[in-house]
Amino acid sequence: MENSLEQRVLDMIQQLKQGPTLRQPWLPIAPEGKVTAWLEPVSWLDADRPQSIALLARWREDAALAFPTQFPVTLAGTQRWLIRQLLEVPDRVLFWVTTLDGTRLGHVGLFRFDFPNRHVELDNVVRGQAGVMPGIVFAAIHTLLGWTFQTLQMQTLLLRVYSDSERTLRLYSRCGFRETQRVPVLRRQEGSVVHWDEGGDPNQPASRHLVTMGLPFAGWRAATGPADAAA
Ligand SMILES: CC(C)(COP(=O)(O)OP(=O)(O)OC[C@H]1O[C@@H](n2cnc3c(N)ncnc32)[C@H](O)[C@@H]1OP(=O)(O)O)[C@@H](O)C(=O)NCCC(=O)NCCS
Repeated sequence: MENSLEQRVLDMIQQLKQGPTLRQPWLPIAPEGKVTAWLEPVSWLDADRPQSIALLARWREDAALAFPTQFPVTLAGTQRWLIRQLLEVPDRVLFWVTTLDGTRLGHVGLFRFDFPNRHVELDNVVRGQAGVMPGIVFAAIHTLLGWTFQTLQMQTLLLRVYSDSERTLRLYSRCGFRETQRVPVLRRQEGSVVHWDEGGDPNQPASRHLVTMGLPFAGWRAATGPADAAA
């Protein structure tokens, strides 16, 4: 049974990565019942679109501190990342947060499915355009959570976030995530690349921690209420 769920989920992800098969937007984002945007799968079509690569590169550079490594971002490197570390990875999927007029505001994704335990990580949450439609990232995550719990039948969403990002922690706790673990991280520089390695003495004060947060299906259902959970 787990195998068939795994196969179905991976097939669905592979299909989403092929690009739009319908004229309709894929998954509508409807805060307060009104559709304002949608989750648009990042697909193989994006791999050949310079505008898509440029957006991903700019947003990765702007949000560098949210990631475990910081490096000089290039368009060629971003295209390579898109193909090898996203599109070719069976259990990773990313969605543009796209307004109804086609403007891309950011992205949210899923990565590292653990099918036996039905866990998956919320991945690559980034707002690219500041100040437009406040609350849209929250609404996008809310939509993605609903799909992940109900259609993909996962039991727990996990994520990792750095402790110095107050705004991000606030966003995730508003979505229902709760902290489960906190480990210190140490900065290591290697040429032009900065790594944040897990390690260090948990009893010594550290300037930065990596915080793990989780949201079980029951917690999401309790937070969203019966109307959303049945949608
Ligand atoms: C994390 C990040 C995506 C959050 O973006 P954001 O713009 O704060 O998210 P939202 O669009 O949901 O907007 C939330 C804000 O709008 C406000 N808001 C207004 N109307 C709202 C509504 N209807 N629903 C929810 N929030 C609403 C919220 O109060 C919140 O403001 P606050 O931060 O002052 O509390 C963004 O800061 C980012 O890209 N950071 C860099 C990358 C990063 O750290 N990613 C996380 C990796 S783990």
